[in-house]
Formats: sequence, C-alpha cells, structure tokens
Amino acid sequence: MAACLRQAVAVSFTLNGRPTAAVAAPFAPLAETLRHELGLTGTKVGCEAGDCGACTVLLDGEQVCACLVATAQVDGAHIDTVEGRGPQGLTDRLRAVFLAHGAAQCGICTPGMLLAAVDLLARVAEPSRQQVEEAIGGVLCRCTGYLKIIEAILEAAASQRCDPAPRLHLGQGLGQGLGQGPAQGLELGQGPAQGLGQGMDQGLDWGQGAGADPLPFPGPSVGARLPRVDGWCKVAGTDRFGADAAPADALWMRVVRSPYARARFTLGDVSAASARALGLLAILTHKDVPGENSFGVFADTKDQPVLAEGCVRFRGEAVLALVGTRAAVEAVGDGDLPIAWHPEAPLCGIDAALAPGAPALHPSSPGNVLTRGHLKCGDVNAGHALAAATAKGVFETQFVEHAYIEPEAGYAMPIGAGPGRIEVAACTQAPYMDLEETARVLGVDRSRVRIRPTACGGGFGGKLDVSVQPLLAVAAWVTQRPVRIVYTRTESMASTTKRHPARIRAKASADAHGRLTACEIEADFNTGAYASWGPTVANRVPVHGMGPYRVANARIAARAIYTNDTPAGAFRGFGVPQAAIAHETLMDDLAQRLGLDRWAIRRGNALDRGDRTCSGQVLAHSAGLPKCLDALKGDWDAALARVARHNASAPRRRRGVGIACMWYGCGNTGLPNPSTMRIKLARDGTLTLCNGAVDIGQGSSTVLLQIAADALGLPPQVFRMVVGDTDLTADAGKTSASRQTLVSGNAARLAAEDLRRQILLLANAGPDARLALKGARLTIADGEASRTIDLAALPSATSWNPGLGCPPALRGFKPGLADQAALRQAERGGGGAGCEQRDPDSAVVLEGIGTWDPPTTPLDADGQGIPYATYGFAAQMAEVEVDLVLATTKVVEIVAAHDVGRAINPMLVEGQIHGGIAQGLGMALLEEFIPGRTENLHDYLIPTAGDMPPVRTYLIEDAEPCGPFGAKGVGEPALIATAPAILSAIRHATGVRLTRTPVLPHRLWQALQRRGAHR
Ligand code: FES
Ligand code: FES
Repeated sequence: MAACLRQAVAVSFTLNGRPTAAVAAPFAPLAETLRHELGLTGTKVGCEAGDCGACTVLLDGEQVCACLVATAQVDGAHIDTVEGRGPQGLTDRLRAVFLAHGAAQCGICTPGMLLAAVDLLARVAEPSRQQVEEAIGGVLCRCTGYLKIIEAILEAAASQRCDPAPRLHLGQGLGQGLGQGPAQGLELGQGPAQGLGQGMDQGLDWGQGAGADPLPFPGPSVGARLPRVDGWCKVAGTDRFGADAAPADALWMRVVRSPYARARFTLGDVSAASARALGLLAILTHKDVPGENSFGVFADTKDQPVLAEGCVRFRGEAVLALVGTRAAVEAVGDGDLPIAWHPEAPLCGIDAALAPGAPALHPSSPGNVLTRGHLKCGDVNAGHALAAATAKGVFETQFVEHAYIEPEAGYAMPIGAGPGRIEVAACTQAPYMDLEETARVLGVDRSRVRIRPTACGGGFGGKLDVSVQPLLAVAAWVTQRPVRIVYTRTESMASTTKRHPARIRAKASADAHGRLTACEIEADFNTGAYASWGPTVANRVPVHGMGPYRVANARIAARAIYTNDTPAGAFRGFGVPQAAIAHETLMDDLAQRLGLDRWAIRRGNALDRGDRTCSGQVLAHSAGLPKCLDALKGDWDAALARVARHNASAPRRRRGVGIACMWYGCGNTGLPNPSTMRIKLARDGTLTLCNGAVDIGQGSSTVLLQIAADALGLPPQVFRMVVGDTDLTADAGKTSASRQTLVSGNAARLAAEDLRRQILLLANAGPDARLALKGARLTIADGEASRTIDLAALPSATSWNPGLGCPPALRGFKPGLADQAALRQAERGGGGAGCEQRDPDSAVVLEGIGTWDPPTTPLDADGQGIPYATYGFAAQMAEVEVDLVLATTKVVEIVAAHDVGRAINPMLVEGQIHGGIAQGLGMALLEEFIPGRTENLHDYLIPTAGDMPPVRTYLIEDAEPCGPFGAKGVGEPALIATAPAILSAIRHATGVRLTRTPVLPHRLWQALQRRGAHR
C-alpha cells in the first residue's frame, strides 16, 4: 500500500503563468514538489504541518499552505509562487514596498507573506488594516513584529490605486529574472543568489540596473533609511537558507534521538542493522567521531556529546545518525535500531536537581550547580535599615523557544585532495565558533575546516550553539561524501536551546522619596542538561540585576543549575529579561507603598551620565534612560487619564497601563570580544567589504556597510560584500549580545579609515578630500586640486615593500585564518600573473583592516569592574485590556523609547524594536515550552499579526563616543522591557500582582480568584 501511495504520477499545472509538468508521488506535499522536483526553493518550509505559513502559495488565486496540499491535487490548477510576478504583477509591486519599508528581516517568512498579501490585494483593492492582519494571520514571522509588513501591504494597496501598472522600482536592478514578460518569473539560478545566502560574494545594487531610479541616498549613509543590502534576494525568494542548497549528490542524514529525559542505553550490532536497510550507507555512533566527542561554548564546558555514549541527559539528545539516501534514512524507524534503553527517573526542574541526594548529571558538578555569578557593593543591611518601604517577591519564568521559522539545516562536504578539508554550510550566528568546534570534533587543525554560513532564517541566540554542524562534519568525514540534513520542526524544538527558566528571589528598599537604598537578589536558572551559555547568564544577571537604577548597596547572586530538561542557552538578553520582570515589579511595589507615580519613581532612580553602577562602573558617556523616560512622560499621563475614563464605564473589560525600564551591556561580560573587518580595493576598481559578521536578519550587513561607506567617503553602492565565509573573512565574533553594530561597526569604521588613509597618502591629499570611484579610476578631489589614480597600474597590495615581509595593511595585524593566504603570498614576495590566478588577493591593490575590542575589565570576586564598554537603555509603556470574565489579555498599544546612541539606519532600528516587542509580548502572555508537549508551532504559540498592537517608537540618540558614529546595540534591548511593562499594565487593570510568566488565562483566572477571595 505504502509503495502504491509513493508511486510517481505526472501532474500538469500552470506555474507562475507557464504550463508545467512534474512527476511526483500523488500525496507528496506540493511544497516538496516545488522545492525538490522543480527547484523552486522560494517556497519555504518551517513546520510541514500548516502552522507557520512559510510555504504559502496561491492555488487558483487563493492562499494555501503548500505543505498541506497533495501534488495530485494541483493537476490542472494555477499555482503562483514567489518566483513569479503574481496576478496583475502584484508580487512585483509588493517586493518593492517590502524592501522600502524594511518588511523583510531574515526573510524566511517573506515569500509566504508576499503571497498572502497578493491573495488579499487581488480580491480587495482598499483593504483595511484589520483585513491585512487577517490575510497574513496564517503566516508567522518571528523577526519583524509584523508592523512593517502591514505598513508595506497597505502602501502597496494605496499605490495600486494610484498607479495600477507596477514599475521598476527600488531593488529591481538585481532581479534579472524579473520584468522579462508577464508570463516569466524568476528562473532558478537567474537571481543574484546563485551561491549560498550569507557566504556569497554579493554585488550590492539598489536599482541601478534595468533603467531603474538611481540610488535615492546620495548623501551620508549613516542615519539614512537605506533598504537592506541583502533584501532583494529575500523578496525575490532567491536567498539560500540552510535547506535550500546542497550538492546534487549529497547523502541525507537523520538523527536518532532519545525518547527519554534520562536513561542509560546499550547499542547492539549497528553495522548489521545498516546492512539490512537498502540505501543506508552508515549508522554513525559516538565511536565514529574522529576527534573529541563533545562540544560546548567555553573551553571548560565542552560537556555535550555529538552522539551520546551510553547515557542521555535530555529528551531529544542525539544518539545515532543514519546516513544514506533520503528514502532510506526516512524509512528506517527508530524502533528498527538496536538500542536497548534503561530509563531512569529524570531531574526535571530546579528543585529536583537541587534536592538533597539528587544524582549529579555531570561528575564535574556535584550538586548540579554548573556555575555561580556574584555581585556585591556597599552595605545591603544598612541600606534596608534606611528604608521607608521594602518590597520583595519570588518570580518564576518559563522555558521560551526561539521559534525561528527556519529549522536548522545545511550540508558538509569534503573539499580538496588527499587529507583535504571539510566545508560546512549551515545556518549559524557564529561561523568562527563553528569552525573551532568542528575542528575539535574532527580532531584536525582549524585550517582544515571552512564554514560558509547560509542565509539565516532567524536566530535570536538559538543558532549560536552548533547543532547540525558537528554531525554533518563527522558524516562527511566518515563517508567522504557530501551529506545534508534538515531538522524537522519537532526535532529543532526538542533538541536545541531555549531561554533559561528562572526562579528569582528579590528584595528592594527605598527611602521616603522613592530613592533606592538596597537590593538583594538570588536567581537560579535552569540550564538544562548541558552548559551551553549558562555561565554567561550567571555572569550577566548580577550586573543587570537591579535594573538601570542607582543603588549603592546591592548583593546579587545567580546560579546555573543542571537538570534533565532541554538545554537552555542564549536567547535575546541572556537572563536579563527574566531579571527585569523581578526588578520592575519591585519598582511598582515600592511606588505603590510610597504613594508615588510609577513613572516618577523610575525617573528619580534612573542611571544617568556620571552615575556609578552596582558593578562600580562610572557611566562616563551615553546613558539615555532619563531622556527615554522624559520622552514617554506625555504618553504616560495621557494613557493614565484615558484608561481611567475607559474603566469608569467598563467593569468587565478593564484597561491598565504599565511601564518598565531596562539596560543592557553591549558585548561580552568583562571578556575580550574583538571583531576584524577588511576592505579591499582591487585593480579593476572592485571594492569589497569582507564582513565576518553574520546577518541573522537584524540588518548588520547594511549597517556595517553604511558605517564603512561614510568612514571611507564613498557611496555604499560602489561596494561589494562577502559575508561570514571563514575562508574569505576575518573573525568578527558572534552575532549576539547586541555587539555587531558597536564592535564590528567600529572594526568596519577602522578598516575604512585605514583604507582612506592609504588613498590620501597615495594622492598626497588632505583629510577632507572627496573620493569618487568609477571603474578602475579613483579620483581624489582636494579643494581645487584633483588627482585620478589608475588602479590597474598599481602593484598588488601583497607585493608592496617585500623587504618588510608583509604588506603595509597587514603590518601589526594578528591574522585570522582568512588572512593566511595573503600573508603566505606576502612572505613569498607576492605579485605576478600566476599568483593572481591562484590567489584573488593578489588583485588587491589597497586594503584597509580594522580591529576593535571593547574596552572592558574582568570582574573581581565581588563582581566589580568594567563589564561593558557601553549600555543600551530603554523605557517602554504597555496599555492592555483584560477581560475579567475570560481572564484574557489584549495588548492595546506599546510606546517604546530607546537610547541607541545613534540610529545608523532608523528603519532597521525600528524593525528591531518591533520584533523585540513581539517576542516580549509572547514571553509575557503566550509562550511556554514544555519538553515533550509543546514541540511544534501548533501547541507552542507565538504572536501572530493579530496579537501585535500598534507600537510607537522614540529613538533617543545619546551618542556614545566609543561607538561608530555614536551608535550602540539595540537587538536585546528591544525585548527586555516589554514583558514587565505588560505585567505592570495587567496589575494596573486588575489589581493582581503577577509573579509567573506566561500570564496564560488560567493563571490570570486563578490570580483573579485569589484576589477576589482576599477582598
Ligand atoms: S511549512 Fe507549511 S505551514 Fe509551515
Ligand atoms: S523576517 Fe519574518 S521570520 Fe524573519
């Protein structure tokens, strides 16, 4: 029967206006047929279950989930995908407005969003905002908070009414497959992204081609709402994510995972099992790992095995890896494999792990405490003694799933002859960390590993840890064949890291004026079965524990606890969002007890320039929290009055308004975290930013380019960019901790300044000279004088000053792997046509290099020191409506004021704020990961377009002198204040003080009942 169902049949249909035939199993999902039979990978797959909408296409003009439509069902039908122009050219029109509005961040949801919008606009010429929300309600976006998508769709509708014929517009210059006639869409491979997403060598083009409008940003780049440089391939559906590309002959891999949270196991004869299954090439066990069978973030916490050895510590842990044809690895069931399980009672949750006599998960951590963080300043007891009011509480937060729409995927393959090298192409936030980890696991020198990041369909911290990389590398190493894998949604959610659940005991005191006198916090974080980023959370939380407030006396302790739960790792904020729920509730408590306004108590304690933090750091420069609060004051007063009016006549649907503040140190905590950027100018005039900072959707590629362009003095459109490839870019560190704008931004600025210095020296020009680059001719205008350099006539940068053994740009520079080729050539004397063929660096005539490491100091035993170069600050207000009968909460509006130092690209900054607020809203009201129970996007709910309230933003630019053009990070700050602001608003509406997230209706109901009982 099963064979009969898989029997391939021929199906004919009209695809993007063209007659198309496909041969596929009749019940094969349409998404599968589009992607694998027809090569149209613009249709994305995030869940295969109808939950995420990433696979949305039009079937006879109506949006459907292509993962739920059987291929046989489309025989004779009309199908529209993102690769086409859409009915009446609507997809083209929407592409342009999506780019202009910054409606695509990571871009994995973008094809589905575009098709859902086409469906609406083809039916409704003047849709309301609500109709737009409903139309895209089935497509999940984890990055944008939906608001810019909605704006873009409304603008597309408006422009359609004014101008029914779509025009070539911003961004279409790169869409070489577009505009070739109404029946023609993008052909596979016609678009710009013929290589891998991030790793490709990209030309940047906002519309110079195809007779489009010239670049609309002739002035300074910094501060401009520049469309993202990698945006076109996202709206065209040609970006290559982890599942979108692999060598044609790649084998498939499937990982067999533990069904138990804690168990011992023995393996039988796996080679016999392998031989029994046709098409199965290997069943990999821990014995096949050629190097160290472990990985982890820190040198002393490599505690997670690539493949388990005799015991498992969480449900979903990798035990075996099947490698073979796709049909073979999918046909072999877990029950067919010789694994004898011996389950044991798991330690689920912090209490079980800390119980007296609890077995240790890891011998190195008796008592199951992985690590401790600590901060102490002043005299806490004396501070409490001064108090006019004291507040305390115990706060509990949940596991939160990253829920990026792209499950982990990629491939690995051997490259080179002989012992050769391994190339791993996968979605990641940290290519150089992947490189180190992969080399360890293979037991080879790091020079034998190349990491080529694909486009990353959302990360938020969840793709900082390796996932598929070591497994793929081992499989490719053992088989000496290319091997690919795509995690299922359930596998992704069950096996990768989460936000740490926390239990926080907190106590704070204030004098009669509301000035804080003391705070005490003890915070335990459930780090799950393996360490991951637990030490980072335990170190970061003490610094941020009392929030962005002046307090002279503090004692804060944090622990990361091993349990048999899913490993917890990095997730937008590293523990700070959990701590913010505690400190902001205490601020509301103190305000209530002292009869103070909630805004006023925060304003009175807000850290300001010149203040000393709890870790003893004097904030010498940018500290814009007072300005953020001042920006909100009018909204705060108006909202309080509005809510009071509403509640006077609405006894059931009560409204409330809440406020919360946050701060977040940009970069690693008291540790070096340098970034290096290179800008190369070649003989033919090609100007390339070699950028190792992976853009996970937040827009770092665009921001870094804007910085580099202004620092060099050339417009951004003359640049090309290489992103993330460890063979072609230097180590820019991981994309996390809100560090890329600050750290890599400074590196890009320094690289550009270095190159500019060399150019000015060549031209003997002054510092204010203006540059122009046209082909191989570089013109330097200095006042009345002008000089043109023929770049084609310059010697190779790598052959300059051979007597010094090193080109000037590299002198004094500690090379990363990517620079070894250039150095080798420099040592050889470089130059020559032969060299040029072997090494493209020899075509480089000038090169600027910049490295920047934030000026920090390690923290001492009392947590005192300079943990961060600078901090982002914010204050957010939430207005909610609570149905007292149903105990449901609707967020009505958020107003957010963020001090970002300088908004390099205000559109992208707003996008980060919207996306962070959406995730904060989910954390407050919706999201709770329960291992084994909510491992899909049906049971685990993230905000949809309909859940997202309007958001108003104030961008506060309190310039940070150490930031590039004054900028600081905004990635994590966007999220941190949202959940506490919503909790504060619910309390205002209902009088219920909430101490546990998420505030699901049953929890709020119980709290309302308790409040009623105590009245
Ligand atoms: S992949 Fe089809 S709805 Fe998620
Ligand atoms: S842009 Fe929507 S999921 Fe990333």
